[in-house]
Amino acid sequence: MAGNNTSWAPVLALLLVAGMVGNTCAGNIAVYWGQNGDEGSLAEACNSGNYAYAIIAFLSTFGNGQAPQLNLAGHSTDGVNEDIKGCQGQGIKVLLSLGGGSGGYGLASSDDANNLANYLWDNFLGGTGSSTRPLGDAVLDGVDLDIETGNPAHYDELASALKAKGSVMLTAAPQCPYPDASVGPALQAVPFDIVWVQFYNNPPCQYANGDDSSLVNAWRTWTSSVSAGSFYLGLPAATDAAGSGFIPASDLTGKVIPDISSIGNYGGIMLWSRFYDARDNYSGQVKAGV
Ligand SMILES: *[C@@H]1O[C@H](CO)[C@@H](O)[C@H](O)[C@H]1NC(C)=O
Repeated sequence: MAGNNTSWAPVLALLLVAGMVGNTCAGNIAVYWGQNGDEGSLAEACNSGNYAYAIIAFLSTFGNGQAPQLNLAGHSTDGVNEDIKGCQGQGIKVLLSLGGGSGGYGLASSDDANNLANYLWDNFLGGTGSSTRPLGDAVLDGVDLDIETGNPAHYDELASALKAKGSVMLTAAPQCPYPDASVGPALQAVPFDIVWVQFYNNPPCQYANGDDSSLVNAWRTWTSSVSAGSFYLGLPAATDAAGSGFIPASDLTGKVIPDISSIGNYGGIMLWSRFYDARDNYSGQVKAGV
């Protein structure tokens, strides 16, 4: 018996190694859609076959007693309802992102947080309490917090209230300096499903000219300090998609992904945004290597 076990050991070791190699290239791609009228429809984004997550940007006004407002820049909301269902039919999760780089938002109290959770549930998620759903009867898969400004208070309560509804994915897009000034407290209080960390517009922790040491250090800190289902490397899809932080496709797949994908719960990459990705095909170039 002992001899038999020994003879199988090399085969088992090979199978294990094969499994590990496979895992390093099993990442998904998430993309933000909605902030450029020239980026094509949500359906076109999903039909590219490059994405596992489409994040609709942004619900840019909420809180402080304001009526929540969806801002899709140059897009009309016509047809988005059917597009969402089409994306979901292909297995792509569609999320609504709250916040963004500009806009008047912020939660003033616990009531504000709970009211917004109820609003989101009835207007974008599984609730039935609204007859004026901005995107129609499509039921989104979850809510993304891209909070970049204002008071960080009460987002933990919003996240808990959304989780309590059941069947709502929670994601967040903090900046790479740890901890994040805006969603840090919420990320400590509630386990998020996915955290896509923005490794751009943040020179202290982003990639620069072939050097990924700061990025890897920040990745290690994020993945070991926050409990989340998985972590995504958030990147600009083109040099002009952000002020800084773009990683050439071959550097990403040849160096950065191999360096981070074995650290923490690596899930893939997030791209800002569909406009730049549709123009330059960054996701198409890196897809096989993330
Ligand atoms: C994007 O790039 C990939 C990889 O080079 C290629 O196979 C694909 O056809 C490209 N897609 C478009 C729309 O150019």
